[in-house]
Amino acid sequence: MNTYNIAALAGDGIGPEVMREAVKVLRATEKRFGFKLVITDAPVGWAGIDFAKKALPDITLDICKRSDSILFGSVGLPDRDPTIPKEERPERAALLRLRKEFGLFANLRPVKLPKVLAHACPLARERQGEGIDILVVRELTGGMYFGQPKHTEDLGGGQQRAIDTMVYTTPEIERIAHVAFKAAQLRRKKLTSIDKANVLENGILWREVVTRVGKQYPEVQLDHMFVDNGAMQLVLKPTQFDVMLCENMFGDILSDEAAALGGSLGMLPSASLGATNGSRTFGFYEPAGGTAPDIAGKDLANPIAQILSAALMLRHSFGLNEAAAAIESAVEHAIESGLRTGDIFSPNEPNVRRVGTRVMGDAIAAVV
Ligand code: IPM
Ligand code: MG
Repeated sequence: MNTYNIAALAGDGIGPEVMREAVKVLRATEKRFGFKLVITDAPVGWAGIDFAKKALPDITLDICKRSDSILFGSVGLPDRDPTIPKEERPERAALLRLRKEFGLFANLRPVKLPKVLAHACPLARERQGEGIDILVVRELTGGMYFGQPKHTEDLGGGQQRAIDTMVYTTPEIERIAHVAFKAAQLRRKKLTSIDKANVLENGILWREVVTRVGKQYPEVQLDHMFVDNGAMQLVLKPTQFDVMLCENMFGDILSDEAAALGGSLGMLPSASLGATNGSRTFGFYEPAGGTAPDIAGKDLANPIAQILSAALMLRHSFGLNEAAAAIESAVEHAIESGLRTGDIFSPNEPNVRRVGTRVMGDAIAAVV
């Protein structure tokens, strides 16, 4: 029987409760499809700081290194302990560190608005067309997030200067462009590359390299769009997009905007992939929504983003396409049958039932 080792890092806020539901669903697929998942829990984020005074405890990093993939919850509680310096806080010390450590340069964020959730989309129905279905491909280990120099200096007299640096090299742009073109080949064959080539050196290089890589994918239609226009086009005519290719920070911003079009951040999974080694790709899978501390521990969170992240893991890291599809259709089924967590609930919708995290997870696991 094929065995896969998974590091499960639930983290903070709603992380543990949505992770519990994803594991429940994974266990159901394991039974049905006959493979074995060895799932090892490890603390991260504030949970890591509480456990070992480090957002990414050594033991957690060890477990990740010995695993085939990481299933991640979420980290970061803005109001907890301001005395912990910024470099040691979970966002940088755990999340960004893991991205860098495992070379997870390709972040895939698929946004899909199911027809039955049209009411949860902030756009008027006529703008939703036949449905919104966008894949944001975000570069994840370069750009302003990691570029050096990066620091804040004292200018004296109580004044400071903060510096972040945007840096990209040709190979960094090439490898993420290939990921985006390949994804487009499997979809509607349209790629919109986002940049700021009218102002930034980075934008000019980005556009040149993406255009060159595009020559190898003649069946994919390539367009370029400035990021400000891209942000506007997303709300004016989101149906024009198939795959959007973005550098790190533009992708951070546009993927949240796109997620809102998909009904709720609570529905958006993501896959962060490193280089492929033989048939296996080490990956890091997480919901895009964050820790949502206001609703944590109340059985209110939508577990779907975490559950769909687990499906992406089965597909991209283990090649278990059937099992991944089974999870995705179980999610669709739960929604079509009228189950709604608070984020996608509307009192005006007929025949729906407002449910908590557990009931939603149980329903999805039962259909798998
Ligand atoms: C995301 C998040 C992170 C990012 C934060 C938590 C560091 O917003 O994954 O989109 O900016 O990359
Ligand atoms: Mg973000």
